[in-house]
Amino acid sequence: MLPNGLSPAATGLLSFRYLSHMLTPSPGRRAVVIAGLRTPFVKSGTVLRDATAAELARHCTRELLYRTELPGDEVDEVIYGQVVPSPLLGNVAREVSLLPQLPKTVPAYTLNRACASGAQAICNAADQIMAGHADVILAGGVETLSDVPILHTRKFAQILATASRAKSLGAKLGLFAQVRPRDLVPVAPGIGEPSTGESMGQSAEKMAKENHISRAAQDQLALMSHQRAAAAISDGRIKAEIAPWFGGPNMDQVGDTDNLVRADTSLDALAKLRPVFDRQYGSVTAGNASPLTDGASTTLLMSEEKARSLGYRPLAAIRSYAVAAVDPGWQLLMGPVYAVPIALKRAGITWQHLGLVEIHEAFASQVLSNTQAWASAEWAKRLGLPGPVGEVDWDRTNVMGGSIAIGHPFGATGSRLVTSLANEMARRDVQFGLISICAQGGMGFALVLERIP
Ligand SMILES: CC(C)(COP(=O)(O)OP(=O)(O)OC[C@H]1O[C@@H](n2cnc3c(N)ncnc32)[C@H](O)[C@@H]1OP(=O)(O)O)[C@@H](O)C(=O)NCCC(=O)NCCS
Repeated sequence: MLPNGLSPAATGLLSFRYLSHMLTPSPGRRAVVIAGLRTPFVKSGTVLRDATAAELARHCTRELLYRTELPGDEVDEVIYGQVVPSPLLGNVAREVSLLPQLPKTVPAYTLNRACASGAQAICNAADQIMAGHADVILAGGVETLSDVPILHTRKFAQILATASRAKSLGAKLGLFAQVRPRDLVPVAPGIGEPSTGESMGQSAEKMAKENHISRAAQDQLALMSHQRAAAAISDGRIKAEIAPWFGGPNMDQVGDTDNLVRADTSLDALAKLRPVFDRQYGSVTAGNASPLTDGASTTLLMSEEKARSLGYRPLAAIRSYAVAAVDPGWQLLMGPVYAVPIALKRAGITWQHLGLVEIHEAFASQVLSNTQAWASAEWAKRLGLPGPVGEVDWDRTNVMGGSIAIGHPFGATGSRLVTSLANEMARRDVQFGLISICAQGGMGFALVLERIP
């Protein structure tokens, strides 16, 4: 058996490796979620188009500190996730920890676990708290796809760098004379796998075909995502997790809620959309994929002891987490199929104990491929388990909608999921909740939350 409890046969044709160990909590030390807050999640290029990642991250964190009345000098560290940082701002977490509400001595770092970055930031915080290295940590993530770095080609960048060191005007001009029009074409980051060149959308398309996920099933999931998110906005559950944004030169770029949710979409409207990534035979459309999104989210974590001493009532404790990876050249977004049973095993529970489940919706085809595998006896054999992980119950899954409707600012989604799940667990008095996130690089992330008295 492998250390994670799966048999070597589980690896099958996949390159699957257990990546991170949960620290065993020292007696009396549990990491708990106190509260979280985010910006509205909006279509890139709209309300938040002029904001930097640092402004978004600082905005929701400042408001979180205000609403929780947390004295800034209680904060031990800030950990943030970001996938596409600006080269001018490599450590956005430090910009957050330099908020005037916090002492300038609060250390901070930024990490990249692709779409699971916000969740990884929260789990790193939990590890630090359980190890006794910290009591209070602000953890979250941010992405602004309205402000992605646009780069020069390598050749033009080399000419610019050499020219900056040239000793004479003639030498500089000689270098610039080597520039050809194609060298000036800007290079933007793509949403693709560096190792295979395949985009996320192409991978989702491949998964739909190989796992026989129909277009109708994908559109049905997308419809549910929008309908549930719209309901959660109108009954106030989503707005309660959002710090309204007022931006622009005249403070006229206002966002008080997510602007991608379509209360009025329908199966007919979704069915009319043309496939994007395989125009002839494909089934993945703008309607059943998560959209390009801007936003930030912060979650406040404490040791349980500290929370009680400061008078906070924890929403939930971090019970376990796990990360796994598959070969990105296979089915890129199947990592959660491996991560979830490990997180459940570490939590000492089974799928049947889960009162709520949050599955990040990168694409409907990915969600349905993951849920199909968890329910499958054949997959149980591949995972080295005695039986299937579990059958999804949609009445308990993505009950406030998901990333297809709400949007997916890569670095921020994990923190949104933890905050939303913890709040909903408290409202429904659910004991265990699970989060599942697929991520670039073939990675899968799973996290178990537990309600505590
Ligand atoms: C799929 C994708 C390419 C679509 O981008 P886009 O074309 O800019 O998307 P739009 O929002 O303009 O939508 C396209 C059309 O579909 C329509 N549409 C989208 N969702 C709809 C819905 N739920 N109901 C009805 N119509 C919808 C839009 O109104 C638009 O129609 P129009 O052309 O008449 O204006 C882009 O969202 C994408 O790349 N998503 C994947 C992101 C990704 O890979 N993330 C990583 C995941 S881990």
